[in-house]
Amino acid sequence: MSAQPKLVVPSSTALVEQQREMERLSSDGIGFHRLSMLLKELTGIYLNDSPKNRSLLVSRIASILRERKIKSLNDYYQVLRTTPAGSPEMAQFVSSMTTNTTRFFRESAHFRQLQAILPKILEQKENMHGADSSEIRIWCAASSTGQEPYTIAMVVQDELARLSPKKQWRLKLLASDIDRPSLRKAVSGLYMLQEIEGVPPEYLKKYFVPRVDTEVGKKYVIHPGLANKVTFTEINLTSQPYPMQKLFDVVFCRNVLIYFDRETAEQVVSNLGRVLRPGGYLFLGHSESGSMRHAEFETISHAAYRKKGGSK
Ligand SMILES: C[S@@+](CC[C@H](N)C(=O)[O-])C[C@H]1O[C@@H](n2cnc3c(N)ncnc32)[C@H](O)[C@@H]1O
Repeated sequence: MSAQPKLVVPSSTALVEQQREMERLSSDGIGFHRLSMLLKELTGIYLNDSPKNRSLLVSRIASILRERKIKSLNDYYQVLRTTPAGSPEMAQFVSSMTTNTTRFFRESAHFRQLQAILPKILEQKENMHGADSSEIRIWCAASSTGQEPYTIAMVVQDELARLSPKKQWRLKLLASDIDRPSLRKAVSGLYMLQEIEGVPPEYLKKYFVPRVDTEVGKKYVIHPGLANKVTFTEINLTSQPYPMQKLFDVVFCRNVLIYFDRETAEQVVSNLGRVLRPGGYLFLGHSESGSMRHAEFETISHAAYRKKGGSK
């Protein structure tokens, strides 16, 4: 008799118990309030008190509570409060609460805009001296698992070769996030076949190396020549000052301000302005243009801005 594969389905009693446990945890209003305030303090991410947000928080941390046999939101808060900032426990809380959705060429109009402004950036470089005249400096803040900075690197690298093939440009791309597991994946540069959907075939050919992985299917790794141009590091957008010595030509900060309250989002935009050179460009997420209330920027297209000053 041949062995039949077994489908293991949790019993309906186990599911009902799990559901009850989630409801019990969600009913801890003080615990929710304390954890959401701690989250805001650590990351800027703001969850107001609503049934939806209580379920969101509980579902994100449920496995941590189970693993560590912690019985209530308030008990978890007490554990975290006695843990030093930056500790693995704190990083695990932050990681569980961040949303890391991203993809290659997301909100693709911005990459066409980036191609369009590159000739202006190169022109501005002609009036600069020393390293600044041949270095293009871009910061991709909140870069999640790396698809966004690698997209920027592909687009800029290609456009530089087309616009100015004779000059040796140095592309320096800093990519940062608060979430350590996302940064680890970004550094690996390894993506599953379904994650590279949407990458134009010419870029795929030039900037990805196929890897066959028999257990989980086909994977692709970013070509080392492109990966070399991107440096990943942990930066919290709500902590000041940012650890940069030189100003950037372009800053991307997309789809993270939506998780902050209005005041925090506007403060982050103002902080980003401080590390952008006059005449430099800032890209926010397509639904984040409401956070741009700063007179030092002019709009160049939807959610794309130029810092005033510098040569046009
Ligand atoms: C939805 S993803 C956006 C990724 C990418 N920018 C994009 O548009 O596809 C939001 C990212 O913001 C990061 N994040 C949240 N709060 C942050 C903070 N205070 N500082 C830096 N990154 C943060 C999260 O870890 C997450 O990877």
